[in-house]
Amino acid sequence: MFASWQVTERPLDCPDDYNLSDSVHPTIINNMCAGSNNTNIAQPEGPAGNDIKLILVAGATGYVGRQLVNALEISHYRVRYLARRPEALRSCVSDMTKVVQGDVLNRDSLYSGLMGIHTAFYLVHSMASGDDFAEVDRRAAQNFATIARESGVKRIIYLGGLGGDEDLSPHLASRHEVGRILRDSGIPTIELRASIIIGSGSLSFEMIRSLVEKLPIMITPRWVQSQAQPIAIEDVIAYLAEAIKVPLEHSKVFEIGGPDRISYKGIMKEYAQQHGLRRLMIPVPVLTPYLSSLWLGLVTPLYVRIGRTLIESIKNPTVVDDCTALDYFAVRPRGIKIAIKQALKKEDITRKI
Ligand SMILES: NC(=O)c1ccc[n+]([C@@H]2O[C@H](COP(=O)([O-])OP(=O)(O)OC[C@H]3O[C@@H](n4cnc5c(N)ncnc54)[C@H](OP(=O)(O)O)[C@@H]3O)[C@@H](O)[C@H]2O)c1
Repeated sequence: MFASWQVTERPLDCPDDYNLSDSVHPTIINNMCAGSNNTNIAQPEGPAGNDIKLILVAGATGYVGRQLVNALEISHYRVRYLARRPEALRSCVSDMTKVVQGDVLNRDSLYSGLMGIHTAFYLVHSMASGDDFAEVDRRAAQNFATIARESGVKRIIYLGGLGGDEDLSPHLASRHEVGRILRDSGIPTIELRASIIIGSGSLSFEMIRSLVEKLPIMITPRWVQSQAQPIAIEDVIAYLAEAIKVPLEHSKVFEIGGPDRISYKGIMKEYAQQHGLRRLMIPVPVLTPYLSSLWLGLVTPLYVRIGRTLIESIKNPTVVDDCTALDYFAVRPRGIKIAIKQALKKEDITRKI
């Protein structure tokens, strides 16, 4: 059992000496512990009579999922995780926490995970599965929605992507479609929509970092001017945690983001500045998303598969147009400077461990 929630830089096998308890977001503690005798130990999946709601996290092995796992592990909630590879989580969770083997593409495997669940987090993403990712994500969401309804789940919490409804990239259109499918289940669903998440290990942040660190002189396509509203991973986790308790009769979409509207170029500049790097950016008007993805593949081979999908999404502005989240949630997200600073600081701490 780990007493810290921040796994930003923590490998999946969660070494015993990892402890970053100073990074617990105060809002998480306040909201999770309100009205409970928090023992700092996740409660076991108890028999009926234990009136603490049972929560499921699907996608617990992913970037966001792993951060949420740690937040929930220090809460008073009873939690169950669903993963294709339960062994990847085993060492990150309390001995009493159940990790159920399940694949959202296989309906039968979902019954044991969803049975008895009050609130289900859906943090599943199939972008790495290839060109037909939208079809895969559609089937996955349909399966989850159907079995969740049959199992009597009372609330779904889903983290999707920001972006208006028109002329969306395939990736963002698919993220919105997944939200629609979950809402169509009839189960009250909270869909949180976010732009780029700032934190070590976040795919989009790692892509930006890779470009800035590898290229002293950068030919920048037009898309680097697109506006985003980045949000720190700590604030995303705080929103997700609070979503368990937000009063909700019907499904609701909340747009979430930090206070800064900034271009991707601006994010790269800020990262370079904080990392002490001098970078020259030369704009060119003709680099299409396709050419950009080839270029990205040369610079960062790690992202060649998903790079095109992500870059196509960057053409869409991902900013908060509807600030209703601020009325429903106590979270007040930090700005881009602090978000990057904290991401880098935590890496330094982790390197020293
Ligand atoms: N990262 C960002 O910058 C960002 C920004 C805005 C919104 N979001 C949203 O946040 C959510 C989570 O994103 P992420 O960055 O954490 O994604 P991620 O790291 O790619 O994680 C995806 C998760 O989905 C699981 N998964 C995929 N296919 C599955 C299947 N068939 N059955 C069961 N599990 C499956 C993966 O499990 P395996 O470990 O088995 O592969 C993994 O746990 C997504 O909805 C994404 O749109 C992310």
